Amino acid sequence: MILTAGIQLLKQLKAGTREIDVVMVTGVIDTDTAVNAIRDGASDYVTKPFNLEEVRIVVQRTLEKRRLIRENRAYQEGLELLVEDRTAALRATTDEVERLYEELQESYESTLQAMVTALDFRDNETQGHSLRVVEYTIRIAGSMGIVEPELGWIRRGALLHDVGKIGVPDAILRKPGKLDGDEWIEMRKHPSHGYEMLRHIRFLAPALEIVLCHQERYDGSGYPRGLKGDTIPLGARIFAVVDCFDAMTSDRPYRAALPIEQARDEVRKFSGTQFDPAVAAAFLEVPVEIWKEIREDVHRKVARMAAGRRSGSA
Ligand SMILES: [Fe+2]
Repeated sequence: MILTAGIQLLKQLKAGTREIDVVMVTGVIDTDTAVNAIRDGASDYVTKPFNLEEVRIVVQRTLEKRRLIRENRAYQEGLELLVEDRTAALRATTDEVERLYEELQESYESTLQAMVTALDFRDNETQGHSLRVVEYTIRIAGSMGIVEPELGWIRRGALLHDVGKIGVPDAILRKPGKLDGDEWIEMRKHPSHGYEMLRHIRFLAPALEIVLCHQERYDGSGYPRGLKGDTIPLGARIFAVVDCFDAMTSDRPYRAALPIEQARDEVRKFSGTQFDPAVAAAFLEVPVEIWKEIREDVHRKVARMAAGRRSGSA
């Protein structure tokens, strides 16, 4: 039996360092005691009486086990260091990729913005129109529970909605009077022009629903395809409301802007015919002050942009 003192000594030694190997010597073959000794940290045990050869074998076996443990630990530590290094390298690469992606995204957005500003300048009835409808659309989309990435697609779609007007001749786009039948046919092509222009740009693909469908009406009386109800993408149904709202609340050469309250009444009146009732309801829940704030913010932004251009060209 292994003496209690022996077990105590084993525990003390192992408590000091796990690196030490202890071979127990037992007088009686007692499996339970031997198993317990191993459990307490003994590397092996020898039964009495023993000969030197037996001790040599046990010591060799113990040393070999220790060597393997050390090797294994060194390997593990090396592996951990390697994983740490690789993780750090990967993190640095990911950060760089994210930074580049953001940069690319920003330059993409500014390019789109520049293109749309150019368009707003050409069609001078609509100064700031694109920026305003973007903000209005986002306000309603957000209140209807739309989140990223859909919100971003809707924002880009709203920004680019009239980009196809680039394909509409000046004589029609800037005509001071009413358009005749043929001119209307040309004008009504602008959603399809816009779609055709942008459909090869993968980055913009989800935004094209608004470009193509922004002139559709809930009751099917819109263009270019006469889509009806929920077959019109939600982003385009939201956009349709704010586009009309912005048109009504902006000055035109032939009429002054309507007050916001009156424009809201018009949206209410055409809910269910021209407009999706759910979108009209979401629109009507937004207080008048919010629309005013958005409009003023955009107005300041447009003025800053114009000042920047003037000082740039001076
Ligand atoms: Fe349009």
